[in-house]
Amino acid sequence: MVAGNWKLNKTATEAYSLVSEMLTGLRTIHGVDVVLCPPFTALYAVSKLIKDNDISLGGQDMYWEEKGPFTGEISARMLAEFCQYVILGHSERRQHFGETNEQVARKVKAALSQNLIPILCVGETLEENEAGRAAGVVSRQVHEALHLLDIQVIGNVIIAYEPVWAIGTGRAATPEGANMTIRNVIRPTIAGLAGETTAQKIRVLYGGSVDAGNARDFFTQPEIDGALVGGASLNAGFFISIVEAASTAG
Ligand code: PGA
Repeated sequence: MVAGNWKLNKTATEAYSLVSEMLTGLRTIHGVDVVLCPPFTALYAVSKLIKDNDISLGGQDMYWEEKGPFTGEISARMLAEFCQYVILGHSERRQHFGETNEQVARKVKAALSQNLIPILCVGETLEENEAGRAAGVVSRQVHEALHLLDIQVIGNVIIAYEPVWAIGTGRAATPEGANMTIRNVIRPTIAGLAGETTAQKIRVLYGGSVDAGNARDFFTQPEIDGALVGGASLNAGFFISIVEAASTAG
């Protein structure tokens, strides 16, 4: 899977042009689940454009309540009209908007109740990494985000391991390092919650400065099932190369 997280970029008109530019290239690549996550305001326009293509849409966040006096928020049910996926718990939401593991857990549960697949983001900060706390932090984020769920639905969640220090910095984790965290921390935490079979089958992406040059090295790691791509997903050529790398890396 390759998911493009556009963050706070592109008007609906700009989104339409960017996706039009991507379509010809993406149509020729097979065997990869491609997910575009533009801002909310562009979802409708992009959904029209990709209608007959094998491309999915995702939101970048949502609120856990279904409706009511929550000015500025949108619900899982509103997203589900356009989207199959939703990014939840991104480090930028945790960092700039104070999102807690508990809030992320409520969002994950609400998303699944509307058949939206959560792309749950976890990852340690530089400070936590340097203090040797990465494993503890990541394991706790996974556990606290998923512990409210029925065991049978945990396997529907996609995890994105995104070390905060690697996001938008051009300084990606090493593919081996990311692979090790997924193998030694993320999958064992899932196993503790939902058993070994689910832990092995749950999809885990890597994110943080993935680009056209390094994508393949991540995709050839045994524990990495794809990428969540920020900056490079705003360039049609780079994004297509990354999807291509996923397709040929098997
Ligand atoms: P980046 O962002 O690829 O620009 O580092 C990744 C992300 O935030 O999901």
